[in-house]
Amino acid sequence: MHQTSQIKEAKEYIQGKTEIAPEIGLILGSGLGGLADELEDAVTIPYQDIPHFTKSAAIGHANQLVIGTLNGKQIVAMKGRYHYYEGYSLDEVTFPVRVIQALGAEKLIITNAAGAVNKEFNPGDLMLISDHINLVGRNPLIGPNNDDLGTRFPDSSEIYNRELRDVAKNIAEENNINLQEGVYAWWSGPAYETPAEIRMIRVLGGDAAGMSTVPEALVAVHGGLKVLGISCLTNMASGILDQPLSHDEVIEVAAQSRSKFVKLVKEVIHQ
Ligand code: 6GU
Repeated sequence: MHQTSQIKEAKEYIQGKTEIAPEIGLILGSGLGGLADELEDAVTIPYQDIPHFTKSAAIGHANQLVIGTLNGKQIVAMKGRYHYYEGYSLDEVTFPVRVIQALGAEKLIITNAAGAVNKEFNPGDLMLISDHINLVGRNPLIGPNNDDLGTRFPDSSEIYNRELRDVAKNIAEENNINLQEGVYAWWSGPAYETPAEIRMIRVLGGDAAGMSTVPEALVAVHGGLKVLGISCLTNMASGILDQPLSHDEVIEVAAQSRSKFVKLVKEVIHQ
């Protein structure tokens, strides 16, 4: 359970470094952290300096909180995130979401790199997350409930806010960005799925598979944040093409999708 006092300490530490009061939080996934470099008047704080943030060693991640303005909006961005597969508890993985909210954000944009399970999708596509399936079967809200933060039994009928999804879809259309929409299945990793597991995910209704996002989204909605989720589909999932999966490919394709990803997210933030 997240302690109100720990959230407050982290919040006050960050507020001591900047005057900016962010209205939007942004979690940047593998290969997508470059967007944080576009923030203006930015203050950068390494996670290890923030009280009660845990150290992360994941490759491809800078692991910094970047607070600044983007398209006229005050933003707090996570450049790099904590993953469950690194061995962190779900409390550690999701603590930053509580702090983002405590800083004043009312909306959270969560991004990730994911594998395409839906055969109609292509590597490099962006996918709006319409819903998720928690295949890990662990929930970050397990344990005593902190009633200051949210209710014991949160509704999950609209984790990914419909209004924000409509905004994103309209922006994609106006800017000729091909935006898929689908269900994100959370897989613990760090091993990618087997071909049989991907067939299972498809049968269950998953369109993409990834190793993040779901814990953060659950905690965000518990706290009352409006969530938008965007996946960068970096590769076809296991068994769809006759080739092995590699993390290098994931990072490379995410980088190639950077310009449309940045455009979409920037415009969503603006609107
Ligand atoms: Cl295919 N699976 C998972 N779980 N995460 C991924 C991925 C696949 N591709 C990128 N990230």
